[in-house]
Amino acid sequence: MRDGNAASKYRDEWSRRLTAKLGSSAVALCAGFLLLCWPTAAVGDVHSAAYQGSQLCVACHKTLNKPIAEVYPKAGHALGFWEVGEEKDGQEILGDFSQDPGFVQAQVAYVLGVGRQEQAYLDKDFQLLPLFWETASKSWVERMPSVDGAAQCITCHATGYDQAEKTWVAAGVGCESCHGPGSEHIAASDKKGSIVQLKELDPLRQAMVCGQCHSLGQATASASPRSPDYRPGDDLAATFMDAKPGAHVPHELPPWTEYSEWLQSKHASASPPATCTTCHDPHGVGSLPHQLRKEGDALCLDCHKDLSCPQHAPASGERATCASCHMPQGSHFFPKPAT
Ligand code: HEC
Ligand code: HEC
Ligand code: HEC
Ligand code: HEC
Ligand code: HEC
Ligand code: HEC
Ligand code: HEC
Repeated sequence: MRDGNAASKYRDEWSRRLTAKLGSSAVALCAGFLLLCWPTAAVGDVHSAAYQGSQLCVACHKTLNKPIAEVYPKAGHALGFWEVGEEKDGQEILGDFSQDPGFVQAQVAYVLGVGRQEQAYLDKDFQLLPLFWETASKSWVERMPSVDGAAQCITCHATGYDQAEKTWVAAGVGCESCHGPGSEHIAASDKKGSIVQLKELDPLRQAMVCGQCHSLGQATASASPRSPDYRPGDDLAATFMDAKPGAHVPHELPPWTEYSEWLQSKHASASPPATCTTCHDPHGVGSLPHQLRKEGDALCLDCHKDLSCPQHAPASGERATCASCHMPQGSHFFPKPAT
Protein backbone atom coordinates (compact mmCIF):
# COMPACT_ATOMS: atom_id res chain seq x y z
CA MET A 1 0.00 0.00 0.00
CA ARG A 2 2.99 2.27 0.18
CA ASP A 3 3.57 3.05 -3.47
CA GLY A 4 1.31 4.31 -6.18
CA ASN A 5 1.08 0.93 -7.82
CA ALA A 6 0.14 -0.88 -4.64
CA ALA A 7 -2.30 1.90 -3.83
CA SER A 8 -4.16 1.46 -7.07
CA LYS A 9 -4.18 -2.30 -6.59
CA TYR A 10 -5.71 -1.66 -3.22
CA ARG A 11 -8.38 0.59 -4.70
CA ASP A 12 -9.17 -2.03 -7.31
CA GLU A 13 -9.52 -4.67 -4.66
CA TRP A 14 -11.77 -2.39 -2.66
CA SER A 15 -13.99 -1.75 -5.59
CA ARG A 16 -14.00 -5.45 -6.52
CA ARG A 17 -15.18 -6.43 -3.08
CA LEU A 18 -17.86 -3.78 -3.00
CA THR A 19 -19.03 -4.64 -6.48
CA ALA A 20 -19.26 -8.29 -5.60
CA LYS A 21 -21.23 -7.47 -2.51
CA LEU A 22 -23.43 -4.62 -3.61
CA GLY A 23 -23.53 -4.33 -7.38
CA SER A 24 -21.69 -1.59 -9.28
CA SER A 25 -24.26 1.20 -8.88
CA ALA A 26 -23.97 1.06 -5.12
CA VAL A 27 -20.20 1.44 -5.30
CA ALA A 28 -20.30 5.11 -6.22
CA LEU A 29 -22.85 5.75 -3.51
CA CYS A 30 -20.72 3.95 -1.05
CA ALA A 31 -17.50 5.79 -1.71
CA GLY A 32 -18.39 8.52 0.76
CA PHE A 33 -19.52 6.05 3.36
CA LEU A 34 -16.52 3.82 3.47
CA LEU A 35 -16.95 2.86 7.09
CA LEU A 36 -20.59 1.96 6.78
CA CYS A 37 -20.22 -0.08 3.64
CA TRP A 38 -16.88 -1.82 3.96
CA PRO A 39 -17.64 -5.52 4.21
CA THR A 40 -16.55 -6.55 7.67
CA ALA A 41 -13.96 -9.30 7.55
CA ALA A 42 -15.12 -12.59 8.96
CA VAL A 43 -14.11 -12.85 12.60
CA GLY A 44 -14.76 -15.10 15.52
CA ASP A 45 -17.20 -13.41 17.86
CA VAL A 46 -14.94 -10.95 19.64
CA HIS A 47 -17.77 -9.96 21.95
CA SER A 48 -18.36 -13.43 23.37
CA ALA A 49 -14.74 -14.63 23.32
CA ALA A 50 -12.68 -14.33 26.52
CA TYR A 51 -9.24 -12.83 27.13
CA GLN A 52 -6.55 -15.43 27.72
CA GLY A 53 -3.35 -13.40 28.12
CA SER A 54 -0.35 -13.34 25.77
CA GLN A 55 1.55 -16.36 27.04
CA LEU A 56 -0.45 -18.91 25.05
CA CYS A 57 -0.27 -16.77 21.93
CA VAL A 58 3.49 -16.58 22.21
CA ALA A 59 3.81 -20.29 22.92
CA CYS A 60 2.24 -21.28 19.58
CA HIS A 61 3.36 -18.31 17.51
CA LYS A 62 7.01 -18.60 18.42
CA THR A 63 7.29 -21.21 15.72
CA LEU A 64 4.72 -19.67 13.33
CA ASN A 65 5.85 -16.02 13.61
CA LYS A 66 9.16 -16.08 15.42
CA PRO A 67 10.03 -12.35 15.20
CA ILE A 68 6.67 -11.28 16.64
CA ALA A 69 6.74 -13.80 19.46
CA GLU A 70 10.34 -13.00 20.37
CA VAL A 71 10.38 -9.22 20.09
CA TYR A 72 6.92 -8.22 21.17
CA PRO A 73 7.13 -9.30 24.81
CA LYS A 74 10.22 -7.10 25.27
CA ALA A 75 8.70 -3.94 23.72
CA GLY A 76 7.09 -0.92 25.36
CA HIS A 77 3.52 -2.03 24.68
CA ALA A 78 3.93 -5.26 26.62
CA LEU A 79 6.02 -3.70 29.39
CA GLY A 80 4.12 -0.44 30.01
CA PHE A 81 2.39 -1.48 33.26
CA TRP A 82 3.12 -3.76 36.18
CA GLU A 83 2.46 -4.48 39.79
CA VAL A 84 5.47 -3.98 42.04
CA GLY A 85 6.96 -7.38 42.84
CA GLU A 86 6.04 -8.79 39.41
CA GLU A 87 8.70 -7.03 37.33
CA LYS A 88 9.83 -8.70 34.14
CA ASP A 89 13.09 -8.07 32.28
CA GLY A 90 13.09 -4.46 31.06
CA GLN A 91 10.83 -3.20 33.82
CA GLU A 92 12.23 -1.10 36.62
CA ILE A 93 11.21 1.82 38.76
CA LEU A 94 13.27 4.68 37.34
CA GLY A 95 12.32 7.44 39.80
CA ASP A 96 15.10 8.70 42.05
CA PHE A 97 13.56 8.91 45.49
CA SER A 98 16.61 10.61 46.98
CA GLN A 99 15.28 13.74 45.21
CA ASP A 100 12.25 13.57 47.55
CA PRO A 101 9.09 13.78 45.46
CA GLY A 102 6.98 13.98 48.62
CA PHE A 103 6.22 10.27 48.71
CA VAL A 104 8.41 7.24 49.31
CA GLN A 105 9.18 4.29 47.07
CA ALA A 106 7.43 1.95 49.50
CA GLN A 107 4.13 3.64 48.57
CA VAL A 108 4.51 2.62 44.92
CA ALA A 109 2.31 -0.42 44.21
CA TYR A 110 1.80 -0.12 40.41
CA VAL A 111 3.94 1.42 37.69
CA LEU A 112 2.64 3.07 34.50
CA GLY A 113 5.02 3.44 31.57
CA VAL A 114 8.19 1.60 30.72
CA GLY A 115 9.79 5.05 30.96
CA ARG A 116 10.71 6.02 27.39
CA GLN A 117 9.68 9.53 28.35
CA GLU A 118 8.04 9.32 31.73
CA GLN A 119 6.90 7.02 34.46
CA ALA A 120 3.94 7.40 36.83
CA TYR A 121 3.08 5.51 39.99
CA LEU A 122 -0.09 4.36 41.75
CA ASP A 123 -0.37 3.50 45.41
CA LYS A 124 -2.02 0.32 46.71
CA ASP A 125 -5.46 1.97 46.50
CA PHE A 126 -4.78 2.81 42.83
CA GLN A 127 -4.46 6.52 43.63
CA LEU A 128 -2.06 8.33 41.30
CA LEU A 129 0.98 9.56 43.24
CA PRO A 130 1.37 13.29 42.63
CA LEU A 131 4.61 13.61 40.61
CA PHE A 132 5.81 11.88 37.42
CA TRP A 133 9.41 10.87 36.77
CA GLU A 134 10.75 12.43 33.57
CA THR A 135 13.41 10.19 32.05
CA ALA A 136 15.38 12.70 29.96
CA SER A 137 15.71 15.39 32.62
CA LYS A 138 16.05 12.81 35.44
CA SER A 139 13.68 14.83 37.58
CA TRP A 140 10.22 14.75 39.14
CA VAL A 141 7.62 16.80 37.29
CA GLU A 142 4.10 17.91 38.06
CA ARG A 143 1.67 16.64 35.44
CA MET A 144 -1.84 16.33 36.72
CA PRO A 145 -3.87 16.22 39.91
CA SER A 146 -3.93 12.90 41.72
CA VAL A 147 -6.74 10.91 40.12
CA ASP A 148 -8.23 7.46 40.66
CA GLY A 149 -5.88 5.40 38.51
CA ALA A 150 -8.23 2.42 38.48
CA ALA A 151 -10.79 4.48 36.57
CA GLN A 152 -8.49 6.84 34.68
CA CYS A 153 -5.25 5.02 33.87
CA ILE A 154 -5.07 1.23 33.85
CA THR A 155 -7.67 0.71 31.14
CA CYS A 156 -5.22 1.54 28.30
CA HIS A 157 -2.17 0.04 29.99
CA ALA A 158 -3.57 -3.47 30.58
CA THR A 159 -5.41 -6.16 28.64
CA GLY A 160 -8.79 -7.59 29.60
CA TYR A 161 -9.28 -4.95 32.28
CA ASP A 162 -12.32 -5.22 34.53
CA GLN A 163 -12.79 -1.80 36.02
CA ALA A 164 -15.39 -2.83 38.60
CA GLU A 165 -13.18 -5.60 39.97
CA LYS A 166 -9.91 -3.73 39.31
CA THR A 167 -8.42 -6.86 37.75
CA TRP A 168 -6.74 -7.55 34.42
CA VAL A 169 -5.85 -10.66 32.44
CA ALA A 170 -2.45 -9.33 31.32
CA ALA A 171 -0.56 -6.29 32.55
CA GLY A 172 0.55 -4.14 29.60
CA VAL A 173 -0.80 -4.04 26.04
CA GLY A 174 -1.02 -7.72 25.18
CA CYS A 175 -1.65 -9.45 21.86
CA GLU A 176 -5.39 -9.40 22.54
CA SER A 177 -5.55 -5.61 22.94
CA CYS A 178 -5.20 -5.43 19.18
CA HIS A 179 -6.26 -8.89 18.02
CA GLY A 180 -9.27 -9.19 20.32
CA PRO A 181 -9.91 -11.78 23.01
CA GLY A 182 -8.47 -15.10 21.84
CA SER A 183 -10.42 -17.95 23.46
CA GLU A 184 -12.22 -18.96 20.25
CA HIS A 185 -9.00 -18.89 18.26
CA ILE A 186 -7.08 -20.89 20.84
CA ALA A 187 -9.83 -23.51 20.91
CA ALA A 188 -9.78 -23.80 17.10
CA SER A 189 -6.57 -22.16 15.91
CA ASP A 190 -6.66 -23.88 12.53
CA LYS A 191 -10.07 -22.37 11.79
CA LYS A 192 -9.74 -19.38 9.47
CA GLY A 193 -11.57 -16.42 10.93
CA SER A 194 -11.34 -17.55 14.53
CA ILE A 195 -9.53 -14.30 15.33
CA VAL A 196 -9.91 -10.77 13.93
CA GLN A 197 -8.10 -10.49 10.58
CA LEU A 198 -6.45 -7.12 11.15
CA LYS A 199 -4.72 -7.16 7.78
CA GLU A 200 -8.03 -7.43 6.01
CA LEU A 201 -9.93 -4.81 7.97
CA ASP A 202 -10.88 -1.60 6.25
CA PRO A 203 -7.87 0.67 6.96
CA LEU A 204 -9.90 3.14 9.01
CA ARG A 205 -11.29 0.33 11.13
CA GLN A 206 -7.77 -0.94 11.57
CA ALA A 207 -6.59 2.51 12.75
CA MET A 208 -9.39 2.44 15.32
CA VAL A 209 -7.67 -0.55 16.90
CA CYS A 210 -4.83 1.83 17.79
CA GLY A 211 -7.28 4.66 18.42
CA GLN A 212 -8.95 2.81 21.29
CA CYS A 213 -5.88 3.89 23.33
CA HIS A 214 -3.94 6.46 21.29
CA SER A 215 -6.65 9.09 21.44
CA LEU A 216 -8.06 11.84 23.51
CA GLY A 217 -11.69 11.62 24.43
CA GLN A 218 -14.17 9.76 26.55
CA ALA A 219 -16.01 6.46 26.41
CA THR A 220 -19.70 7.18 25.99
CA ALA A 221 -20.94 4.69 28.61
CA SER A 222 -18.13 4.57 31.16
CA ALA A 223 -16.30 6.86 33.53
CA SER A 224 -13.01 5.78 31.97
CA PRO A 225 -11.51 7.37 28.86
CA ARG A 226 -11.15 4.10 26.95
CA SER A 227 -14.31 2.29 26.00
CA PRO A 228 -14.55 -1.06 27.81
CA ASP A 229 -17.09 -2.25 25.21
CA TYR A 230 -14.91 -1.67 22.17
CA ARG A 231 -13.39 -4.72 20.51
CA PRO A 232 -11.01 -4.76 17.52
CA GLY A 233 -13.03 -4.64 14.31
CA ASP A 234 -15.77 -2.50 15.86
CA ASP A 235 -16.56 1.07 14.90
CA LEU A 236 -14.81 3.01 17.66
CA ALA A 237 -17.16 5.96 17.23
CA ALA A 238 -20.05 3.80 18.47
CA THR A 239 -18.70 3.71 22.03
CA PHE A 240 -16.15 6.52 22.17
CA MET A 241 -16.42 10.27 21.68
CA ASP A 242 -13.22 11.65 20.20
CA ALA A 243 -12.12 14.97 21.71
CA LYS A 244 -11.03 16.42 18.35
CA PRO A 245 -8.07 18.34 19.79
CA GLY A 246 -7.25 21.46 17.81
CA ALA A 247 -3.56 21.61 18.67
CA HIS A 248 -0.73 19.40 19.90
CA VAL A 249 0.33 20.16 23.47
CA PRO A 250 3.50 18.14 23.96
CA HIS A 251 4.30 18.88 27.56
CA GLU A 252 0.94 18.13 29.03
CA LEU A 253 -0.73 14.89 29.86
CA PRO A 254 -2.29 13.06 28.27
CA PRO A 255 0.01 13.07 25.27
CA TRP A 256 -1.61 9.97 23.76
CA THR A 257 -3.42 11.87 21.05
CA GLU A 258 -2.02 10.42 17.83
CA TYR A 259 -5.27 8.95 16.53
CA SER A 260 -7.32 12.06 17.41
CA GLU A 261 -4.83 14.22 15.52
CA TRP A 262 -4.38 11.84 12.62
CA LEU A 263 -8.16 11.59 12.16
CA GLN A 264 -8.17 15.28 11.22
CA SER A 265 -5.28 14.95 8.75
CA LYS A 266 -5.26 14.41 5.01
CA HIS A 267 -3.66 11.05 5.73
CA ALA A 268 -6.95 9.85 7.20
CA SER A 269 -9.20 11.31 4.53
CA ALA A 270 -7.06 10.23 1.58
CA SER A 271 -8.18 7.21 -0.38
CA PRO A 272 -6.56 4.91 0.46
CA PRO A 273 -5.56 6.47 3.78
CA ALA A 274 -2.03 6.36 5.17
CA THR A 275 -2.77 4.67 8.48
CA CYS A 276 -0.88 3.92 11.68
CA THR A 277 0.42 0.65 10.30
CA THR A 278 1.52 2.27 7.02
CA CYS A 279 4.21 4.03 9.03
CA HIS A 280 4.45 1.91 12.20
CA ASP A 281 5.09 -1.79 12.59
CA PRO A 282 2.48 -2.82 15.17
CA HIS A 283 4.77 -5.43 16.73
CA GLY A 284 7.91 -3.31 16.76
CA VAL A 285 9.88 -6.13 15.21
CA GLY A 286 12.44 -3.82 13.57
CA SER A 287 14.95 -1.84 15.57
CA LEU A 288 13.87 1.66 14.52
CA PRO A 289 12.60 4.12 17.13
CA HIS A 290 8.84 4.44 17.56
CA GLN A 291 8.35 1.12 15.81
CA LEU A 292 8.73 2.97 12.49
CA ARG A 293 8.82 0.91 9.32
CA LYS A 294 11.48 3.06 7.63
CA GLU A 295 14.01 5.54 8.79
CA GLY A 296 13.80 9.32 8.37
CA ASP A 297 12.54 10.81 5.13
CA ALA A 298 12.45 7.44 3.37
CA LEU A 299 9.20 6.72 5.23
CA CYS A 300 7.52 9.69 3.60
CA LEU A 301 9.19 9.60 0.22
CA ASP A 302 7.66 6.21 -0.47
CA CYS A 303 4.48 8.10 -1.33
CA HIS A 304 5.61 11.71 -1.69
CA LYS A 305 8.12 10.75 -4.32
CA ASP A 306 8.37 14.17 -5.94
CA LEU A 307 8.88 16.12 -2.74
CA SER A 308 12.49 15.83 -1.76
CA CYS A 309 13.22 18.69 0.61
CA PRO A 310 15.32 21.04 -1.50
CA GLN A 311 12.60 21.26 -4.13
CA HIS A 312 9.60 22.24 -2.08
CA ALA A 313 11.21 23.75 1.01
CA PRO A 314 14.26 25.63 -0.22
CA ALA A 315 14.84 27.34 3.12
CA SER A 316 15.21 24.06 4.97
CA GLY A 317 18.07 23.91 7.38
CA GLU A 318 20.57 21.11 7.04
CA ARG A 319 18.95 18.97 9.66
CA ALA A 320 15.34 19.60 8.71
CA THR A 321 13.47 16.42 7.92
CA CYS A 322 9.95 15.79 6.68
CA ALA A 323 8.96 15.09 10.27
CA SER A 324 10.68 18.12 11.80
CA CYS A 325 8.59 20.43 9.59
CA HIS A 326 5.39 18.41 9.27
CA MET A 327 5.25 16.62 12.62
CA PRO A 328 6.47 19.28 15.05
CA GLN A 329 7.08 17.66 18.45
CA GLY A 330 5.68 14.39 17.20
CA SER A 331 2.26 15.78 16.32
CA HIS A 332 0.13 13.73 13.91
CA PHE A 333 -1.90 16.50 12.21
CA PHE A 334 0.59 16.54 9.28
CA PRO A 335 -0.07 20.22 8.58
CA LYS A 336 1.04 22.15 5.54
CA PRO A 337 2.96 24.88 7.34
CA ALA A 338 2.67 28.50 6.25
CA THR A 339 5.50 29.41 3.90
C1 HEC B 1 -2.73 -23.68 19.81
C2 HEC B 1 -1.82 -22.84 19.09
C3 HEC B 1 -2.20 -21.38 18.94
C4 HEC B 1 -2.47 -20.49 19.95
C5 HEC B 1 -2.50 -20.75 21.46
C6 HEC B 1 -2.68 -19.22 19.30
N1 HEC B 1 -2.57 -19.35 17.95
FE1 HEC B 1 -2.81 -17.87 16.59
N2 HEC B 1 -2.65 -19.19 15.06
C7 HEC B 1 -2.34 -20.54 15.23
C8 HEC B 1 -2.34 -21.17 13.92
C9 HEC B 1 -2.05 -22.63 13.66
C10 HEC B 1 -2.66 -20.17 12.99
C11 HEC B 1 -2.79 -20.30 11.49
C12 HEC B 1 -1.43 -20.05 10.92
C13 HEC B 1 -1.45 -19.83 9.46
O1 HEC B 1 -2.49 -20.01 8.81
O2 HEC B 1 -0.39 -19.45 8.98
C14 HEC B 1 -2.83 -18.94 13.73
C15 HEC B 1 -3.13 -17.71 13.16
C16 HEC B 1 -3.15 -16.51 13.86
C17 HEC B 1 -3.28 -15.21 13.29
C18 HEC B 1 -3.38 -14.91 11.81
C19 HEC B 1 -4.78 -14.93 11.39
C20 HEC B 1 -4.86 -14.44 9.98
O3 HEC B 1 -5.26 -15.22 9.14
O4 HEC B 1 -4.52 -13.27 9.76
C21 HEC B 1 -3.26 -14.30 14.30
C22 HEC B 1 -3.39 -12.81 14.19
C23 HEC B 1 -3.11 -15.05 15.52
N3 HEC B 1 -3.04 -16.38 15.22
C24 HEC B 1 -3.04 -14.46 16.77
C25 HEC B 1 -3.07 -15.18 17.95
C26 HEC B 1 -3.25 -14.58 19.25
C27 HEC B 1 -3.43 -13.10 19.51
C28 HEC B 1 -3.24 -15.59 20.16
C29 HEC B 1 -3.44 -15.50 21.66
C30 HEC B 1 -4.74 -14.98 22.08
C31 HEC B 1 -3.03 -16.83 19.42
N4 HEC B 1 -2.94 -16.53 18.09
C32 HEC B 1 -2.96 -18.06 20.00
C33 HEC B 1 -2.08 -21.17 16.43
C34 HEC B 1 -2.28 -20.64 17.68
C1 HEC C 1 -4.58 -1.18 24.75
C2 HEC C 1 -4.03 0.11 24.43
C3 HEC C 1 -3.15 0.29 23.21
C4 HEC C 1 -3.41 -0.13 21.93
C5 HEC C 1 -4.60 -0.91 21.41
C6 HEC C 1 -2.30 0.34 21.14
N1 HEC C 1 -1.39 1.01 21.91
FE1 HEC C 1 0.37 1.82 21.31
N2 HEC C 1 0.84 2.27 23.25
C7 HEC C 1 0.00 2.08 24.33
C8 HEC C 1 0.69 2.46 25.54
C9 HEC C 1 0.12 2.40 26.96
C10 HEC C 1 1.99 2.84 25.15
C11 HEC C 1 3.11 3.32 26.06
C12 HEC C 1 3.96 2.16 26.49
C13 HEC C 1 5.09 2.64 27.36
O1 HEC C 1 6.00 3.30 26.86
O2 HEC C 1 5.05 2.37 28.54
C14 HEC C 1 2.04 2.73 23.69
C15 HEC C 1 3.15 3.04 22.92
C16 HEC C 1 3.16 3.05 21.52
C17 HEC C 1 4.24 3.52 20.70
C18 HEC C 1 5.53 4.13 21.19
C19 HEC C 1 6.64 3.17 21.10
C20 HEC C 1 7.94 3.91 21.10
O3 HEC C 1 8.93 3.20 21.30
O4 HEC C 1 7.98 5.12 20.88
C21 HEC C 1 3.86 3.36 19.39
C22 HEC C 1 4.63 3.74 18.15
C23 HEC C 1 2.54 2.78 19.40
N3 HEC C 1 2.15 2.60 20.71
C24 HEC C 1 1.81 2.49 18.28
C25 HEC C 1 0.61 1.76 18.28
C26 HEC C 1 -0.07 1.31 17.09
C27 HEC C 1 0.41 1.55 15.68
C28 HEC C 1 -1.19 0.66 17.50
C29 HEC C 1 -2.22 -0.05 16.66
C30 HEC C 1 -1.72 -1.03 15.70
C31 HEC C 1 -1.22 0.70 18.96
N4 HEC C 1 -0.10 1.39 19.38
C32 HEC C 1 -2.20 0.15 19.76
C33 HEC C 1 -1.29 1.60 24.30
C34 HEC C 1 -1.89 1.01 23.19
C1 HEC D 1 -6.86 6.46 26.51
C2 HEC D 1 -5.81 5.53 26.87
C3 HEC D 1 -4.88 5.90 27.99
C4 HEC D 1 -5.22 6.23 29.27
C5 HEC D 1 -6.61 6.35 29.87
C6 HEC D 1 -3.97 6.45 29.97
N1 HEC D 1 -2.91 6.22 29.14
FE1 HEC D 1 -0.94 6.41 29.62
N2 HEC D 1 -0.45 6.14 27.67
C7 HEC D 1 -1.33 5.81 26.67
C8 HEC D 1 -0.62 5.74 25.42
C9 HEC D 1 -1.24 5.40 24.07
C10 HEC D 1 0.72 6.06 25.69
C11 HEC D 1 1.86 6.20 24.68
C12 HEC D 1 1.66 7.51 23.98
C13 HEC D 1 2.84 8.14 23.33
O1 HEC D 1 3.98 7.70 23.45
O2 HEC D 1 2.57 9.19 22.67
C14 HEC D 1 0.79 6.31 27.12
C15 HEC D 1 1.96 6.65 27.81
C16 HEC D 1 2.03 6.88 29.17
C17 HEC D 1 3.24 7.22 29.87
C18 HEC D 1 4.64 7.37 29.26
C19 HEC D 1 5.26 6.03 29.00
C20 HEC D 1 6.71 6.12 28.60
O3 HEC D 1 7.32 5.04 28.45
O4 HEC D 1 7.27 7.20 28.43
C21 HEC D 1 2.91 7.36 31.20
C22 HEC D 1 3.84 7.69 32.35
C23 HEC D 1 1.49 7.15 31.29
N3 HEC D 1 0.98 6.86 30.04
C24 HEC D 1 0.76 7.29 32.47
C25 HEC D 1 -0.61 7.29 32.52
C26 HEC D 1 -1.37 7.75 33.67
C27 HEC D 1 -0.79 8.24 34.97
C28 HEC D 1 -2.68 7.63 33.34
C29 HEC D 1 -3.89 8.00 34.17
C30 HEC D 1 -3.96 9.36 34.61
C31 HEC D 1 -2.74 7.11 31.97
N4 HEC D 1 -1.47 6.92 31.52
C32 HEC D 1 -3.91 6.86 31.29
C33 HEC D 1 -2.69 5.58 26.80
C34 HEC D 1 -3.43 5.89 27.92
C1 HEC E 1 -0.46 -2.87 18.84
C2 HEC E 1 -1.36 -3.80 18.21
C3 HEC E 1 -0.93 -5.23 18.08
C4 HEC E 1 -0.45 -6.04 19.09
C5 HEC E 1 -0.29 -5.69 20.54
C6 HEC E 1 -0.18 -7.32 18.47
N1 HEC E 1 -0.49 -7.29 17.15
FE1 HEC E 1 -0.32 -8.81 15.82
N2 HEC E 1 -0.95 -7.60 14.30
C7 HEC E 1 -1.35 -6.29 14.47
C8 HEC E 1 -1.72 -5.75 13.16
C9 HEC E 1 -2.23 -4.35 12.90
C10 HEC E 1 -1.52 -6.79 12.23
C11 HEC E 1 -1.74 -6.72 10.72
C12 HEC E 1 -0.42 -6.71 10.04
C13 HEC E 1 0.00 -5.43 9.48
O1 HEC E 1 -0.83 -4.58 9.14
O2 HEC E 1 1.23 -5.29 9.32
C14 HEC E 1 -1.04 -7.94 12.97
C15 HEC E 1 -0.72 -9.17 12.42
C16 HEC E 1 -0.40 -10.30 13.14
C17 HEC E 1 -0.24 -11.63 12.60
C18 HEC E 1 -0.41 -12.01 11.14
C19 HEC E 1 0.89 -12.31 10.52
C20 HEC E 1 1.75 -11.15 10.22
O3 HEC E 1 3.00 -11.28 10.34
O4 HEC E 1 1.24 -10.09 9.82
C21 HEC E 1 0.06 -12.47 13.63
C22 HEC E 1 0.31 -13.96 13.57
C23 HEC E 1 0.07 -11.67 14.85
N3 HEC E 1 -0.20 -10.35 14.52
C24 HEC E 1 0.32 -12.17 16.10
C25 HEC E 1 0.46 -11.40 17.25
C26 HEC E 1 0.88 -11.91 18.53
C27 HEC E 1 1.19 -13.35 18.82
C28 HEC E 1 0.92 -10.86 19.39
C29 HEC E 1 1.39 -10.82 20.83
C30 HEC E 1 2.69 -11.43 21.09
C31 HEC E 1 0.48 -9.67 18.63
N4 HEC E 1 0.25 -10.05 17.34
C32 HEC E 1 0.35 -8.40 19.16
C33 HEC E 1 -1.42 -5.59 15.64
C34 HEC E 1 -0.96 -6.03 16.87
C1 HEC F 1 2.72 9.14 7.74
C2 HEC F 1 3.38 8.36 8.74
C3 HEC F 1 2.72 8.18 10.09
C4 HEC F 1 1.42 7.84 10.36
C5 HEC F 1 0.28 7.65 9.38
C6 HEC F 1 1.34 7.68 11.78
N1 HEC F 1 2.54 7.94 12.36
FE1 HEC F 1 3.00 7.83 14.33
N2 HEC F 1 4.86 8.58 13.96
C7 HEC F 1 5.38 8.80 12.72
C8 HEC F 1 6.72 9.34 12.85
C9 HEC F 1 7.64 9.74 11.72
C10 HEC F 1 6.97 9.43 14.24
C11 HEC F 1 8.23 9.98 14.92
C12 HEC F 1 8.06 11.46 15.06
C13 HEC F 1 9.28 12.14 15.57
O1 HEC F 1 10.38 11.68 15.27
O2 HEC F 1 9.12 13.14 16.26
C14 HEC F 1 5.78 8.92 14.91
C15 HEC F 1 5.64 8.81 16.30
C16 HEC F 1 4.60 8.13 16.92
C17 HEC F 1 4.54 7.81 18.33
C18 HEC F 1 5.58 8.13 19.37
C19 HEC F 1 5.22 9.42 20.03
C20 HEC F 1 6.11 9.73 21.18
O3 HEC F 1 6.70 10.81 21.14
O4 HEC F 1 6.20 8.90 22.09
C21 HEC F 1 3.38 7.14 18.55
C22 HEC F 1 2.86 6.62 19.85
C23 HEC F 1 2.69 7.06 17.25
N3 HEC F 1 3.46 7.67 16.30
C24 HEC F 1 1.46 6.45 17.07
C25 HEC F 1 0.73 6.53 15.89
C26 HEC F 1 -0.65 6.09 15.75
C27 HEC F 1 -1.46 5.45 16.84
C28 HEC F 1 -1.01 6.35 14.45
C29 HEC F 1 -2.35 6.17 13.81
C30 HEC F 1 -3.47 6.89 14.43
C31 HEC F 1 0.15 6.94 13.78
N4 HEC F 1 1.17 7.03 14.69
C32 HEC F 1 0.18 7.31 12.44
C33 HEC F 1 4.76 8.59 11.51
C34 HEC F 1 3.42 8.25 11.36
C1 HEC G 1 1.03 5.66 2.12
C2 HEC G 1 1.40 6.88 1.48
C3 HEC G 1 1.87 8.04 2.33
C4 HEC G 1 2.94 8.09 3.21
C5 HEC G 1 3.87 6.96 3.58
C6 HEC G 1 3.02 9.45 3.67
N1 HEC G 1 2.03 10.20 3.10
FE1 HEC G 1 1.69 12.19 3.39
N2 HEC G 1 0.06 12.10 2.19
C7 HEC G 1 -0.39 10.96 1.54
C8 HEC G 1 -1.63 11.28 0.85
C9 HEC G 1 -2.43 10.31 -0.01
C10 HEC G 1 -1.91 12.64 1.12
C11 HEC G 1 -3.10 13.45 0.69
C12 HEC G 1 -2.84 14.10 -0.62
C13 HEC G 1 -3.96 15.01 -1.00
O1 HEC G 1 -5.03 14.97 -0.41
O2 HEC G 1 -3.72 15.79 -1.92
C14 HEC G 1 -0.83 13.12 1.96
C15 HEC G 1 -0.72 14.43 2.41
C16 HEC G 1 0.35 14.92 3.14
C17 HEC G 1 0.55 16.31 3.49
C18 HEC G 1 -0.31 17.47 3.05
C19 HEC G 1 -1.32 17.82 4.07
C20 HEC G 1 -2.24 18.94 3.63
O3 HEC G 1 -2.98 19.40 4.52
O4 HEC G 1 -2.24 19.31 2.46
C21 HEC G 1 1.69 16.38 4.24
C22 HEC G 1 2.30 17.64 4.84
C23 HEC G 1 2.21 15.03 4.34
N3 HEC G 1 1.38 14.18 3.66
C24 HEC G 1 3.35 14.70 5.03
C25 HEC G 1 3.84 13.41 5.15
C26 HEC G 1 4.98 13.06 5.97
C27 HEC G 1 5.78 14.02 6.77
C28 HEC G 1 5.15 11.72 5.83
C29 HEC G 1 6.19 10.84 6.52
C30 HEC G 1 6.24 10.92 7.97
C31 HEC G 1 4.12 11.22 4.94
N4 HEC G 1 3.35 12.28 4.56
C32 HEC G 1 3.98 9.90 4.56
C33 HEC G 1 0.21 9.74 1.53
C34 HEC G 1 1.31 9.38 2.27
C1 HEC H 1 11.87 23.21 6.13
C2 HEC H 1 10.55 22.69 6.33
C3 HEC H 1 10.06 21.57 5.42
C4 HEC H 1 10.65 20.35 5.19
C5 HEC H 1 12.01 19.86 5.65
C6 HEC H 1 9.70 19.59 4.41
N1 HEC H 1 8.59 20.33 4.15
FE1 HEC H 1 6.92 19.74 3.16
N2 HEC H 1 6.18 21.63 3.22
C7 HEC H 1 6.75 22.68 3.89
C8 HEC H 1 5.97 23.88 3.65
C9 HEC H 1 6.26 25.24 4.21
C10 HEC H 1 4.89 23.49 2.80
C11 HEC H 1 3.80 24.38 2.25
C12 HEC H 1 4.20 24.78 0.87
C13 HEC H 1 3.13 25.60 0.19
O1 HEC H 1 2.03 25.76 0.69
O2 HEC H 1 3.43 26.06 -0.92
C14 HEC H 1 5.05 22.07 2.57
C15 HEC H 1 4.18 21.31 1.83
C16 HEC H 1 4.20 19.92 1.78
C17 HEC H 1 3.18 19.08 1.22
C18 HEC H 1 1.92 19.56 0.56
C19 HEC H 1 2.26 19.75 -0.89
C20 HEC H 1 1.16 20.30 -1.71
O3 HEC H 1 1.41 20.42 -2.92
O4 HEC H 1 0.07 20.65 -1.22
C21 HEC H 1 3.58 17.79 1.36
C22 HEC H 1 2.84 16.54 0.92
C23 HEC H 1 4.89 17.83 2.00
N3 HEC H 1 5.22 19.13 2.25
C24 HEC H 1 5.64 16.71 2.29
C25 HEC H 1 6.97 16.76 2.71
C26 HEC H 1 7.87 15.62 2.71
C27 HEC H 1 7.50 14.22 2.30
C28 HEC H 1 9.06 16.07 3.19
C29 HEC H 1 10.38 15.30 3.36
C30 HEC H 1 10.93 14.78 2.13
C31 HEC H 1 8.92 17.48 3.48
N4 HEC H 1 7.64 17.85 3.15
C32 HEC H 1 9.91 18.30 4.00
C33 HEC H 1 7.88 22.62 4.68
C34 HEC H 1 8.77 21.57 4.74
